[in-house]
Amino acid sequence: MAIPQSFIQELLSRVDIVEVVGRYVQLKKGGANFMGLCPFHGEKSPSFSVSPTKQFFHCFGCGKNGNAVGFLMEHTGIGFVEAVKDLAQQAGLQVPEEDVPPQERARAAEQRKKQSTLNEVLHKAAEAYKAQLKHAPRAIDYLKGRGLSGQVAKTFGLGYAPEGWRFLSTVFPDYQSPLLVESGLVITPDDPSGEGGTDAKEGKRYDRFRDRIMFPIRNVKGECIGFGGRVLDQGEPKYLNSPETPVFSKGHELYGLFEARTAIRQAGYVLVTEGYMDVVALAQLGFGNAVATLGTACTPEHVRLLFRFSDAVVFGFDGDAAGRRAARKALEAALPWATDTRSVKFLFLPPEHDPDSFVRTHGPEAFAEAVQQAVPLSRFLLEAAAAGCDLDSHEGRARMSSQAQPLWSALPDGALKRQLLQDLADGVGL
Ligand code: UTP
Ligand code: MN
Repeated sequence: MAIPQSFIQELLSRVDIVEVVGRYVQLKKGGANFMGLCPFHGEKSPSFSVSPTKQFFHCFGCGKNGNAVGFLMEHTGIGFVEAVKDLAQQAGLQVPEEDVPPQERARAAEQRKKQSTLNEVLHKAAEAYKAQLKHAPRAIDYLKGRGLSGQVAKTFGLGYAPEGWRFLSTVFPDYQSPLLVESGLVITPDDPSGEGGTDAKEGKRYDRFRDRIMFPIRNVKGECIGFGGRVLDQGEPKYLNSPETPVFSKGHELYGLFEARTAIRQAGYVLVTEGYMDVVALAQLGFGNAVATLGTACTPEHVRLLFRFSDAVVFGFDGDAAGRRAARKALEAALPWATDTRSVKFLFLPPEHDPDSFVRTHGPEAFAEAVQQAVPLSRFLLEAAAAGCDLDSHEGRARMSSQAQPLWSALPDGALKRQLLQDLADGVGL
């Protein structure tokens, strides 16, 4: 996709870097420039400066610098073309891609516009849920009971969707708008995922999330793309998630990644868990670098996204059988990306724990220790290959060899792959 240089120039002259950066970093005017805390290296006093005249940012602490496009790429991990398209959309410009036919271009622009409208709708809902939390003692008690601080609830924008079928009609006067359905907030009577209650029978639409703790899900740009909603008491399902929409795809998004970016850089690794609560609890107790899959298995897309932010990934799944299965899936998802310069590890907690309960029971030091002890991908691969094989018999060794084959083949070429071949050959006596 070729974008003409002249367009980039025009784009840079139309957007204001102070405004672009200001969306992510709190800036204060100091002399000719604006100053803030550097989002790239984590610091206590501001050494990150943005120049409105030069349209450039520069950090005196870590040395990172660049223009508005560079900032977006560095900060959100998106590629050049996507950053340009994002800025163009905000500036009301259309990117003239030389090798894309005009209809295709118009369609793509239309789609981006739709997405940004849906993001706005979801953002408005998130704000409303957040405001409701303040007036919901039951929800506040629930969160307190789970040990959450007000501060961490604020960081993650937690909210509460009140009881009642149509709370959102007070937030969106046009409750019949198709956007509410498209964003996944509202269910129509004919929706197969609906509950078919009295309202549905009366042919009325109703809110998807009712009487639930709300976890807004953000994409890497910080836009609200969906929700997870937890029941306060017993009830099914425990978590209700937004459906797949034009802005939300579970297999591509990770909960907490936006909030975790700075901590990931500081810690030098990203920790992948299974649950919303794991992410929030870990952040509160000193592990702000945690993210979670969204009730689906970890996909290769997830792993690819993670490697845009760090070259070290630690999977920290629940200690139960389901957690082991999830780790096995994650292994498969990670294999294609496990180049020699990257590190992938697996942390296995005791069966009775998930990261949230572990860190609360045993404390942050014990959790840090568990991270230290995490099993490298190579060892986990060998264990997975040997699973259920009696290595004292020819048949068992043959079985290990056939179980190892697809795992080993999925690895990219390199030293790790060659070493593993050697280890496997030793293991099966070939
Ligand atoms: P868990 O049941 O392990 O969640 O499901 P958790 O985070 O430990 O929940 P708490 O501690 O009881 O609050 C892990 C993840 O699986 C998805 C959610 O994303 C959840 O965070 N899930 C779980 C669902 O989507 N629906 C469910 O009904 C349950
Ligand atoms: Mn839990």
